[in-house]
Amino acid sequence: MSVAPPPHPNRSARALATVTAVAQKASLRSARRRRPAAPVDRELPVEVRSVTYPCPDVAEVELAGSGPLPGWRPGAHLDVVLPSGLLRQYSLCGDPADRSVYRIAVRAVPGGSGSAQVHRLTPGARLRVRGPRNAFPLAAAPSYLFLAGGIGITPIAPMVRAVHAAGLPWQLVHTGRDLASMPLSEGLAGLASDRVRRRPDGTAGVPSAEELLAGTDPGAAVYCCGPPPMIDAVRRALPADRRFHSERFSPPPIRDGRPFTVALAGGPELPVPADRTALDVIRDVRPDVAYSCRQGFCGTCHVRLVEGSTVGDPAGPGLTALCVGRAEGARVVVDLGR
Ligand SMILES: Cc1cc2nc3c(=O)[nH]c(=O)nc-3n(C[C@H](O)[C@H](O)[C@H](O)COP(=O)(O)OP(=O)(O)OC[C@H]3O[C@@H](n4cnc5c(N)ncnc54)[C@H](O)[C@@H]3O)c2cc1C
Ligand code: FES
Repeated sequence: MSVAPPPHPNRSARALATVTAVAQKASLRSARRRRPAAPVDRELPVEVRSVTYPCPDVAEVELAGSGPLPGWRPGAHLDVVLPSGLLRQYSLCGDPADRSVYRIAVRAVPGGSGSAQVHRLTPGARLRVRGPRNAFPLAAAPSYLFLAGGIGITPIAPMVRAVHAAGLPWQLVHTGRDLASMPLSEGLAGLASDRVRRRPDGTAGVPSAEELLAGTDPGAAVYCCGPPPMIDAVRRALPADRRFHSERFSPPPIRDGRPFTVALAGGPELPVPADRTALDVIRDVRPDVAYSCRQGFCGTCHVRLVEGSTVGDPAGPGLTALCVGRAEGARVVVDLGR
């Protein structure tokens, strides 16, 4: 794929600086280290304004507030409290300049509780949202390569529009089962068709990093959102000094996990194998224990740590995130009642 010249080369730096103002400093500090998303304590009532289906299994939902909504930057997501009380994260895929609505696009996950509820929403339904918050900020760079797998296009779409508006060079590779299952990227191809490669692979499999990177600008900052194997493959294929930013919608595989025991205060002792989390084994016996992001940052599964200490745990003092925290020693005791 060739890179077309930027449409407005002279105003690029100023426009992108506006888009990336907050993100840039933190992002340059470490392009590869994942930063935790800042906690959000703001909760807003919203009303479903419209529900459309750009693909058979993707619902695009517009959420309106009672007035102008809090601003956001490309890469941000909302925590949405669904009708049953379940909390799920959805990336904002609309226009940050439009403060009248938040737009999200949600793929129906087979057996998925939250996505099924989103697909049953109708205009007029009232919900609550928290955020927006941004763990995937767009930082200033001379050129960009965007890689999206399936519904991973949602945070990427506003990035593409912002970079295009700034007149900077960019390329997008969007992969998926088939063209009919790939939302948003057809519209982005309308911005500059020679910069967009929509790559149906005919399967639910993940293309190799070599296939994804073929013909792309070797110096561009890379932004990737898709299935964990896609993110991992691209990260491994890039040189260590290449700027690489990614976001996952589902948890990364557990690496080098040591087995331990989690005891529920006043309840059973549960062995946690090396390749599972405390949350997984606790939900085997207590399926009502709530989770959301499964990456440690949303707070849904943070509980009181009664005994022992943990590693890799973003929860505050005296707490543990069951979805990612692992015992430092052989055993921890947790209190599910907090
Ligand atoms: C920061 C962030 C942004 C996100 N943005 C979006 C977005 O824009 N659009 C969107 O559709 N989703 C997005 N997600 C994912 C979304 O929040 C849910 O995790 C996802 O929709 C599944 O939730 P569920 O309640 O339907 O499934 P659950 O009821 O939680 O899970 C049901 C079953 O499906 C499995 N499962 C869960 N997720 C997946 C998956 N992705 N693929 C295959 N199997 C799965 C589970 O392991 C379980 O076995 C985002 C997640 C994060 C962390
Ligand atoms: S599920 Fe979000 S912190 Fe554990």
